[in-house]
Amino acid sequence: MQVTFCRLRTHQWCFILFNVILFHALLFGADFVEEYFLHSLPHVDMKVLEIKDKARKLNMEPLKSNLSTYYILNQPEVCKGKNIFLLSLIFSSPGNGTRRDLIRKTWGSMTSIQGHLIITLFALGMPVLVTTQKEIDKESQKNHDIIEGIFLDSSENQTLKIIAMTQWAVTFCPNALFILKVDEEMFVNLPSLVGYLLNLKEHLEDIYVGSVVHQGTPNRDPHHQEFISLSEYPEKYYPDYCSGETFIVSQEVARMMYVVFKEVPVMVPADVFVGICMKSIGLIPIHSSRFSGKRHIKYNRCCYKYIFTSSETTDAEMSLAWKEINDGKECTWLETYYGLISCKLLTYLDSFKHFHMSTLENNVMYVDD
Ligand SMILES: *[C@@H]1O[C@H](CO)[C@@H](O)[C@H](O)[C@H]1NC(C)=O
Ligand SMILES: *[C@@H]1O[C@H](CO)[C@@H](O)[C@H](O)[C@H]1NC(C)=O
Ligand SMILES: *[C@@H]1O[C@H](CO)[C@@H](O)[C@H](O)[C@H]1NC(C)=O
Repeated sequence: MQVTFCRLRTHQWCFILFNVILFHALLFGADFVEEYFLHSLPHVDMKVLEIKDKARKLNMEPLKSNLSTYYILNQPEVCKGKNIFLLSLIFSSPGNGTRRDLIRKTWGSMTSIQGHLIITLFALGMPVLVTTQKEIDKESQKNHDIIEGIFLDSSENQTLKIIAMTQWAVTFCPNALFILKVDEEMFVNLPSLVGYLLNLKEHLEDIYVGSVVHQGTPNRDPHHQEFISLSEYPEKYYPDYCSGETFIVSQEVARMMYVVFKEVPVMVPADVFVGICMKSIGLIPIHSSRFSGKRHIKYNRCCYKYIFTSSETTDAEMSLAWKEINDGKECTWLETYYGLISCKLLTYLDSFKHFHMSTLENNVMYVDD
């Protein structure tokens, strides 16, 4: 009856309704499917239990007495005697003091959310120039928020950076419930992120969450900078891992990671390295589409109030987003809905443009060959 009614009298309405549903399914369907399928139970066996046990009994005291072999700058007291909910470690390049200052003034300035304590620190390696080191020393004396490991800060050394900072976190911040690794180019909406963490109900001690990359493949092009040979990583796919710009681990997971570091090949990209560590401790990453991964999300106030991160944020956008998110103006359900549609559509169009551009560039390269 209904169908006949529909076809005869209001088929236009049905058509419109169908299109609206199709539009939403296309726009949001992938997110739901991803979140559903990328969420499964962690795998536990004897080896994992052994690692768990080792992680619980980790003794970092010897390291504390030998600190100068690992860190140039170190903040051994920042976490002492506090109940910390989230430790944000912002991975920054040594020469980027202006960016750090901007983050200190914007999203990095939050010290507490809904009564939960947040600590924000900058993670650096060593600069090439002595003059840069002098500036960093000054900056550190002023702000007391820089950890500098003893290794050259270069794109090839990012895995070393992750190892050094995880080691720092388990040694000096064992009282932080969650640890956030985030790159300085990101804008982070800490209140929505903390709200999400507070709502995670399952396996709270086993958290590894971010924008999950499913069936990532090693780069097998020998001319490429990120080339991975078959002897370095023989398998076809990487295990699922969280895209490196932003991910969160719980303290227990950080400790387990620290235990297995030495057994994992360092040659793969840093985020894949973390993913392989997680696989060896039986952990499967949790995906949320509110993490942007590598994507820049087109700015829209109500959209930015909802999402967790956006990549490649300019200084101006960072200031604007920070100001507008904290102006106390709430977003209605409809505004959030509209904001999400608009920023998602624009972001898709953008990535399509990038895709198109890079295909064009590739073609040009082949013509040159
Ligand atoms: C402390 O540092 C020295 C010198 O680098 C090194 O030989 C020793 O193994 C280190 N000890 C620990 C416990 O890390
Ligand atoms: C990584 O850091 C080490 C230790 O400082 C340094 O010797 C090495 O040259 C760095 N590697 C690259 C590729 O920058
Ligand atoms: C500083 O950070 C910004 C934002 O990520 C980036 O665009 C810029 O290239 C960085 N500058 C240096 C000197 O690393």
